Formats: sequence, C-alpha cells, structure tokens
Amino acid sequence: MASSFSHKAVPALDVFKPDLFHGKVVLVTGGGSGICYHITETLMRLGCKAAIVGRKADRLREAAEQLARDTGSEAIATPGDVRKFEAMEQVVKQTIDKFGKIDFVICGAAGNFMAPLEGLSSNAFRTVLEIDLVGTYNTVRATMAEVKRTHGTYLHISATLHYSGLPWQAAPSAAKAGVDALSNVICVELGPFGVRSNCIAPGFIAGTEGASRLVPKGSDDMVKAFIPAQRIGERTDIANAAVFLFSEAANWITGQVIAVDGGQMHFRSAWLPYPQSSLDPRSFKNLFPDLRL
Ligand code: COA
Repeated sequence: MASSFSHKAVPALDVFKPDLFHGKVVLVTGGGSGICYHITETLMRLGCKAAIVGRKADRLREAAEQLARDTGSEAIATPGDVRKFEAMEQVVKQTIDKFGKIDFVICGAAGNFMAPLEGLSSNAFRTVLEIDLVGTYNTVRATMAEVKRTHGTYLHISATLHYSGLPWQAAPSAAKAGVDALSNVICVELGPFGVRSNCIAPGFIAGTEGASRLVPKGSDDMVKAFIPAQRIGERTDIANAAVFLFSEAANWITGQVIAVDGGQMHFRSAWLPYPQSSLDPRSFKNLFPDLRL
C-alpha cells in the first residue's frame, strides 16, 4: 500500500513580503485568543496595527501586550461584548482615537458547545446566535462608515458545519449560515464603495478552543484520516488565507466563503458514531463532560 503524503504548514513570512500591511489597521473581534489571535499576530508581523476585542478585559490586555512584544508592531485592547451595539461603537471610537482609521475588520467572536436538540434551551440557541450572527452584524454596523471611507475589507470566520446537517451543532450551524448570508449582502451593498467582504470557513485546527470543544480528546488520528490533505490544520493555515484575502492580490475576490480545511468538507464522515449520537446521546457523557441532558 502506498503511504500518504501531507504538505507542512508554512509560516506567512516565508511567502509574503514583510511590510505587506505597513500603515494598515485591523480591528479583530475574538482577537484575544485562538485562531483570531494568530491571524492578528501574523498581520502585525507584516506591519499592521491592531485593536483586539473581547469580553475579558484583563486577558485582552495581556494578549495585546504579548502581540506587541512578539511582533514589534502596535496593538490595543478594546474590551467589549459583540452582543451590545453600543459597546462596539465604543470599540470603534477607541480604535480610531488611537490609530486614526480602520482598514480591515475580522468578525471572529464566536460561541459553541456540543448539544443535541433536546439539550439545547431556547436561551442557549439564542446566545450562540447573538454572539456569532448578531455580533457580526453589530461589528459591521459599527465599523461600516469607517470601512467605506478607507475602502477596506471585512473577513468573517465562518465554518463548514452547515454544509450538511451536523448532529449536536444546531445553533452554530444556523448562526454561521447567517454569517455567510450577511457577508454576501455586505459584498453587494458596500462593493460600490470599494469594500470587500469574504468568509474563511476553517476546518479542524489543532490547539483551538473550538477543536477541544467539538472533538473528544485523543481523536486526532481518526480525524486526520478523514482529511484529504492528511493532516490536522494549524492556525498558520488560516492566517495565510487571511493574509491573502486582505492583500491587494485578492482585490477582485469578494462575497466568497473559502473553506480552509484540507478538503475535509468534501469527505463528510461524522466522528460521532451515527445513529448512536442521535438515539442515545447520554452514552457519550464520558467523552463530553459538559453535555446537558
Ligand atoms: N450545553 C447546553 N447548554 C449550554 C451549555 C452546554 N454545554 N453551555 C451553556 N449553555 C446554555 C446555558 O445553560 C444558558 O441557557 P439557559 O439560560 O437556558 O440555562 C445559555 O446557554 C447561555 O449560557 P451562559 O453561560 O449564560 O452564556 P455566556 O454568554 O456566559 O457564554 C457560551 C456563552 C455559552 C457560548 C460560552 O460557551 C462561551 O462564552 N463561549 C466562548 C468561547 C467559545 O465558545 N469558543 C469556541 C468557538 S468555536
């Protein structure tokens, strides 16, 4: 039998020129941790300045300081809850007061947990919709006058969940489908102002909160086998796609959802045994301790 081959993840600076985003300013919701932290770090290494948004002020401040130390560029912490429009207005004001403008916006704040329909209260469903979808709307609405002025670019962190009916993911699937739709409208309405709007739909990315919430510990080898590119994604894979989408090389690409998932969306195989996960969700309680049933 032939053995499988996988390409290694490549750091952005091996490919893109170091001053690519010199003079640019990015505002990132969810930028204090995970995938969006890494995208922010990469944009900053390429010369961008950043304002990161999150709910936990102390953690956010530490993240901004770490980003500045590691990259030599500037970052500020602008605490706020994306669910509150007034908070996002304040975040935008603080960013413009500090940096004078906003060129790029990343809508990355998200909430997720595994929950079969019977374990999902109406408030739980609403909470995820409010963070992912209403939060994206609030971020866009609060930034859009400025982004029109700078002829800037939106990037939304979506998902591939909703391309099929994935068990235990009703709320995030509905929310991300809405995010994709919203991005398309932004593309069309704001396109004539020189504004672009795209989504990245990440696949399984190692070491992220999303991955640890969605896949039981110790399943990496099983997950990898279902990924055509034969490796689990790294944060740098997502950051590289973001760099390309923000760059001038992509200035005719708008209204697109780009799956960065090693091809996994074309090979749908649930890692939750089916139909056991629907018929007897309680039998998975040892794998998902937060499961509420
Ligand atoms: N299963 C089922 N319901 C759950 C749940 C779980 N594991 N975790 C929370 N909920 C429910 C709560 O019970 C509550 O509903 P209720 O009022 O009917 O009881 C509702 O969701 C809101 O929970 P709450 O803790 O008040 O919301 P929050 O705003 O503090 O937290 C979450 C939001 C729930 C999305 C939380 O997981 C979070 O903050 N996540 C952010 C990080 C994240 O998820 N990253 C991954 C991105 S892929």
